[in-house]
Amino acid sequence: MNCEAAIPLDALAAADPRGRTAPDLFAPARLGSLRLRNRLVMSPMQQYQGAADARATAHHVHHYARRARGGVGLVMVESTAVAPEGRLFGDDIGLYSDAHVAPLRAVVDAVHAEGAAIAVQLSHGGRKSFRGTGPLLAPSAIAFDAGYGTPQAMSQAQIDAAVAAYGRATRYALQAGFDAIELHAAHGFLVHQFLSPIGNRRDDRYGGSARNRGRFLREAFAAIRRAAGPDYPLLVRVSGSDFDPQGLAPEDVAELLRPLRELGLQAVDVSAGGISPAVPYGIGVEYQVPFAATIRRALAVPTIAVGLIRGAERAQAILDAGHADFIAIGRPLLERPDYAEDLRRARGGRAAS
Ligand SMILES: Cc1cc2nc3c(=O)[nH]c(=O)nc-3n(C[C@H](O)[C@H](O)[C@H](O)COP(=O)(O)O)c2cc1C
Repeated sequence: MNCEAAIPLDALAAADPRGRTAPDLFAPARLGSLRLRNRLVMSPMQQYQGAADARATAHHVHHYARRARGGVGLVMVESTAVAPEGRLFGDDIGLYSDAHVAPLRAVVDAVHAEGAAIAVQLSHGGRKSFRGTGPLLAPSAIAFDAGYGTPQAMSQAQIDAAVAAYGRATRYALQAGFDAIELHAAHGFLVHQFLSPIGNRRDDRYGGSARNRGRFLREAFAAIRRAAGPDYPLLVRVSGSDFDPQGLAPEDVAELLRPLRELGLQAVDVSAGGISPAVPYGIGVEYQVPFAATIRRALAVPTIAVGLIRGAERAQAILDAGHADFIAIGRPLLERPDYAEDLRRARGGRAAS
């Protein structure tokens, strides 16, 4: 399958700072086959309001629908576990059983009713999983810290089961009606643990060379693509830097992502950090934007910039500079559900839909 045609390269060209008109933050945009009313994305944020069995609750319906009403183009639902042993917390949500579908269908329907598109972020915590739901699994038996403890190095059968779990979660996500899926490969969780030499010391075909460290990502993404079908919008969230000379730099991340272009990667959501406890969080204003720019240039795939991006002018400036194609907003939306609408007003009211 060659999905490269599905990549909206017109969006890239439109943002080329060398002469062409940059995309308007508030104008309709395409993300693969998906039409968005604007380029503002609600960044995935854990709500810690899931039921004990990882079902979404009435809180999620209200929370996400309210931010959709506030004007974002795409709502990204928080980290959602593909397997019980991959849950990040005891109160997060999952998509690994039939029981998880209907509560998330209610979230999807409520967000659609407010005019936004909605995606789900599929995750597995690996060595940073919540204790007590199964074995702590990771590419190598290296602890993140004393609190999480030392994980088991995954067997081939455990790797195969984790890959299959991404496919199963995708089928449930489609049943729930999600418009897109984001594979969580950032923040030191399972996929990132495979990608980074800091988490991965394997000497089999999943470790060592970049090609081998990227194998789990490719297998997980391919499982999602197989379950989703050829035109369904798929994104990946990565940590654009490990902030460690032993770890990944944005150029490395771009190369690890390159094989996903042929599997129909529609956008890369570029965060940073999380692979080791030493890394500071929220280093400074727009500190992750250069990573999004590097990955965008290297891959020619649209990027989503995120992290301390504040105000409509700054968001538009990032698009104008060709650093990214979409802007994700996190914490301001927790405080102000109408933050997207506030930005639109502050910009002088170019229509949002
Ligand atoms: C409470 C909270 C929960 C978060 N949960 C997730 C998550 O589930 N998945 C994820 O990739 N990032 C998560 N993040 C990171 C945000 O998506 C975002 O990248 C980060 O907050 C930086 O953007 P901001 O400066 O606009 O808040 C979370 C952040 C916060 C504050």
